[in-house]
Amino acid sequence: MDKISFFKTQFYKKNQLIHINNAGLSPISLPAYNEINKWSQRFFEEGYFTDKDYANQVTFSREQVAELIGCSSDQIAFFQSASWAITQFINSIDLKPQDEVLLWDQEYSSHLLPWKIACEKKYAQLVQLTSSQDLKTPSEHIFNHINSKTKVFAFSLAQYQSGAMIHEVGLVIKKLKERGILIFIDACQSLGVLPDHYWPSQIDGLVGTSHKWLTSPVGVGFLALGPELILKAKPLSYGSGTYGSCDDTVNDMCYPKKSAQRFEPGAKQVLEICALGKSIELILATGVSNLYTESLRLSRLLKEGLSQFKGSTLLNSNHESFDHPIINWTPPPQGPYTAQALQNELLKNGISTAFRAGGIRFSPHAFNTDQEIHYTLDKLSELIYKKP
Ligand SMILES: Cc1ncc(COP(=O)(O)O)c(C=O)c1O
Repeated sequence: MDKISFFKTQFYKKNQLIHINNAGLSPISLPAYNEINKWSQRFFEEGYFTDKDYANQVTFSREQVAELIGCSSDQIAFFQSASWAITQFINSIDLKPQDEVLLWDQEYSSHLLPWKIACEKKYAQLVQLTSSQDLKTPSEHIFNHINSKTKVFAFSLAQYQSGAMIHEVGLVIKKLKERGILIFIDACQSLGVLPDHYWPSQIDGLVGTSHKWLTSPVGVGFLALGPELILKAKPLSYGSGTYGSCDDTVNDMCYPKKSAQRFEPGAKQVLEICALGKSIELILATGVSNLYTESLRLSRLLKEGLSQFKGSTLLNSNHESFDHPIINWTPPPQGPYTAQALQNELLKNGISTAFRAGGIRFSPHAFNTDQEIHYTLDKLSELIYKKP
């Protein structure tokens, strides 16, 4: 069995539910499910006697996250959400009055709000770059705004509503870094689906989340911090984990840990983190490039079918050379349903999508099948052309 066929067997298929909202919440993989069951049983039966084993499993997950991103596990800190991880990054840079922070005007609120609030607190300027009408993110808009006050450019590698990506992002980052601008990446819509060659190497911080393309339970955000920022950064909160461990109590004369673990003040969400490590292990064994090729193939199959609905529109923010499986589509205006009502109807029919930017967002993952795509298109035809 080839790797992608095996990957598809690692997801639950015994009900009629079709998951095409993987940019929102994906189902969890079989290894993640097994891992949660394993730890749930061990905590039930063994309690404290699991202590070393679960800590080792958390270390394994940290190493898997690092391997996926391409950094050292010392740079990884776990949080409860992406927004916490973003807030920790902001706390790691010395934002001053008049500094400018650049963000796109279409960033997800968990990314936008931590920056907005921090800028208000520090009297810094939040500059929101204007996307083009179809939500593309042209690099000229970035270059038109950078100046000597620009402290940081914070952006989603793939935008959540349309999958839009900056063309030649590596080159853009190189130019900004040459001007001393910090680079922060929200990779929540990228990790687990975009292969290596999309990843810029020169970043100062990167955030990811468990429950989308990484097919893991909700509840883990993580931060990869540039090595030079780890020691400079102030933790958001302090606890036994900042210094030692719960069995190694320390006084406040001790130095905080030297790795990014100093940002994890205390006990963690062990089940979710262990499950995340197992899903990433599966993703790495399958190969992110293979996952990308397959999810893009399914996405193109779907896109082709969607474009057949006369009068419908595709928010075509993608380009052959930097495509993402996210599709944003608006049904024909003369049809019986608005986009939101149609998205609701799909949900009632067991097909998950999302209503975003006035259209329906479809985000197929490599575990989806051709039959699921065809079924979705047939269901759309039925709904659009034969109102019940
Ligand atoms: C771009 C982006 N960043 C972050 C998140 C998640 O943020 P949080 O973990 O704070 O809910 C999402 C989706 O929910 C997202 O699409």
